[in-house]
Amino acid sequence: MPDSITVTDNRTGKTLEIPIEDGGIAASEWSKLLPGIWFYDPGFTSTAACMSSISYLDGDAGILRYRGYPIEQLAENSTYLEVAYLLLNGELPTEEEYSNWEHEITHHTFIHENMRKRFLEGFHYDAHPMGMLVSAVAALSTFYADAKDIFNLESRDKQIIRLIAKMPTLAAAAHRFSIGMPFVYPDNGLHFAANFLSMMWKTAEFRFEANPVLSKALDVLFILHADHEQNCSTTAMRVVGSSHADPYSSCAAACAALYGPRHGGANEQVIRMLNSIGSLENVDPFIKQVKEGHGRLQGFGHRVYKNYDPRAKIIKRTADEVFKVTGKNPLLDIALKLEEVALNDDYFISRKLYPNVDFYSGLIYQAMGFPLEMFPVLFAIPRASGWLAHWVEMLDQDSKIARPRQLYNGTDSRDYVSIEKRV
Ligand code: CMC
Repeated sequence: MPDSITVTDNRTGKTLEIPIEDGGIAASEWSKLLPGIWFYDPGFTSTAACMSSISYLDGDAGILRYRGYPIEQLAENSTYLEVAYLLLNGELPTEEEYSNWEHEITHHTFIHENMRKRFLEGFHYDAHPMGMLVSAVAALSTFYADAKDIFNLESRDKQIIRLIAKMPTLAAAAHRFSIGMPFVYPDNGLHFAANFLSMMWKTAEFRFEANPVLSKALDVLFILHADHEQNCSTTAMRVVGSSHADPYSSCAAACAALYGPRHGGANEQVIRMLNSIGSLENVDPFIKQVKEGHGRLQGFGHRVYKNYDPRAKIIKRTADEVFKVTGKNPLLDIALKLEEVALNDDYFISRKLYPNVDFYSGLIYQAMGFPLEMFPVLFAIPRASGWLAHWVEMLDQDSKIARPRQLYNGTDSRDYVSIEKRV
């Protein structure tokens, strides 16, 4: 049997055989037979927009791999910075490569004083930190004019290092501003996650020493959130990047996409949902409401996973470690009951709705003291490395500018009517 499909245009009787390659068929081949006939695919549910070798995801089997390495092994043995290197370079670093990489990231964590004093402090006192982050990432492009030189590999690498390094600094700065606390400068003697926690929580002590269990847990969460193939924000990064915008502007677009409650804002919604349920006896009535179409079970379901999200399994274990230090999040029991009820209910079983990465991550963030508004920001910090890996891949593929077609269903041509004659 040939690995191909045959398409017949019933209007003309013409046929075309198109090979199936790497699990897809080339739309350009299709267009040879059907010029001007477009695939109608809102939400790109059946469209592969690129070739990619960064993440592999099998939604039915619940598998996620970065550059071939199972997410479980990376979460167990690696660090976020090593994973960021892996995503960007395709291979795990040698000891020397890792030490150079860590040094470079650590020495690019500072932000320009104008960014902090004039730009970030210009926001309204109750600005949402994710809104501040989106804007701050875009504003970085105005500080680094060389960022426009996207085909200069040296400059490209520099922007990548700057972005990965400055995300935690901007994130913590946004939080400190929102609670009226002074900005904390990065501490170059600390590892990535510990440094972020220091910038978040340091008060009057000489050095903020994060609890190692908590900084390790945060590092694991960073690993789990670093990449997830062609999700909404990564697609935004690739689409904006395809116009050859600089990486900061493209990353700001990706951050904006992540802000929405269907994407990076979902873990915030999970906590709001658990708070509104309030107690165990309200779980069943809540599930009933969801099944009747009133709202969604936040943190459940995924466009690609039709099985337990492998990241959710790791996060559930990480939550146990964190709660040993912080004490149990009182919402945990409600979450566990919700999960149990949903996993045994035909509505969720038949639609293959399982807990996703956001179901338990919010409980950990909350137990660690992060305010709800910081949850999408915590997602954006590590996802920057995934966005950048996709940006580099896209540029190296010399891809075309993203420019989909539409099926026009508006009115036909008509003549302009002056305002006094309109009814
Ligand atoms: N609760 C109740 N019903 C749901 C849910 C849910 N969380 N998710 C999907 N459904 C139902 C939906 O009503 C539909 O039912 P029917 O066929 O009867 O109309 C069916 O399942 C398919 O839903 P869909 O909206 O067509 O699925 P999708 O692939 O377009 O949406 C999703 C995926 C993640 C947006 C959706 O599952 C959802 O809204 N989940 C809650 C929000 C959430 O947890 N988002 C985080 C996603 S993971 C983090 C990330 O990768 O960014």
